[in-house]
Amino acid sequence: MSKNVNIDWKNLGFSYIKTDYRYISYWKDGNWDDGSLTDDNKLNISVASTALHYGQQCFEGLKAYRTKSGKIQLFRANENAKRLNSSLRRLLMPEIPVDKFIDACKDVVKANEHFVPPYGSGGTLYIRPLVIGIGDNIGVKPASEYIFTVFCMPVGAYFKDGMTPCNFTITDYDRAAPLGTGAYKVGGNYAASLVPHKLAAERGFTDCIYLDPSTHKYIEEVGAANFFGITKNNEFITPKSASILPSITKYSLMYIAEKYLGMTVYEKQVPVDNLDQFVEAGACGTAAVITPIGGIEYNGNLHVFYSETEVGPVTKELYRILCGIQFGDIEAPDGWIFEVNI
Ligand SMILES: Cc1ncc(COP(=O)(O)O)c(C=O)c1O
Repeated sequence: MSKNVNIDWKNLGFSYIKTDYRYISYWKDGNWDDGSLTDDNKLNISVASTALHYGQQCFEGLKAYRTKSGKIQLFRANENAKRLNSSLRRLLMPEIPVDKFIDACKDVVKANEHFVPPYGSGGTLYIRPLVIGIGDNIGVKPASEYIFTVFCMPVGAYFKDGMTPCNFTITDYDRAAPLGTGAYKVGGNYAASLVPHKLAAERGFTDCIYLDPSTHKYIEEVGAANFFGITKNNEFITPKSASILPSITKYSLMYIAEKYLGMTVYEKQVPVDNLDQFVEAGACGTAAVITPIGGIEYNGNLHVFYSETEVGPVTKELYRILCGIQFGDIEAPDGWIFEVNI
């Protein structure tokens, strides 16, 4: 590592830490500029920016991993670029070429290389790209100027002492409307999730589970993560709906379940009154990779899957393989890894 930073790698959480550089690029008159790195972590924007009033903003979340040999790699960054473009289209914002997105992420990681946690600490460098509508524009219409910026910060392993099952409760609130913005990574969805999360946490649950907004019969999201269940017939089942954020971790687990573990994989409706079909269940996303679900509280009962204290064997295996790929210990499927030249 080029520089020393005073960080207790083993005890990192998920909190903002200012790193040395971030990337910033401006869009005006139909084009993105080349962008550059800056050490300033403040944005100077008009008070009339559409991002501030009408939520014309979207973001991504991905990680850089340090491998055993000291290399640094990104995991499926092209998928984050594609998903960001899908969010941008939904909010009438200008798209970002996939290569520009990947290069910006790589440049930020390289410029902050000494913040990438060492292999074996469980830590990673979390990368947060975002796009906001800026300029003087108080009407409800798309902005005439935009900022694309990427910053990063070191984060610790979600589970410090190995995976532990967590309990969740079903909420009556919706995070998104049926044809709203649930499938896009836009800030408004997260604003809508703050109250239901608080209510669940106050009752001792890790988070809440959202049902489909039209009928409240089918499982949608587990907090800010996707749901999956494992049946006794070796099936991996995950919900299908137009209002779920398409999780890159989820699609990676579907691939691993099918190709590495020989499971049958389905994306289909998951009725909340048929949780008995699952012998294991989990939530998946970039932050924790997999959070095993101990139990789900629904209609006053706690439905326990495998155990409230032990992690099921399939969940463990999915986690081992995905983390192995992300940290470079297991060979990745073609196109999943983007090496950062340091
Ligand atoms: C609402 C929501 N669902 C699911 C996910 C998981 O997506 P991914 O696996 O791409 O991190 C996230 C996190 O990005 C999220 O915010």
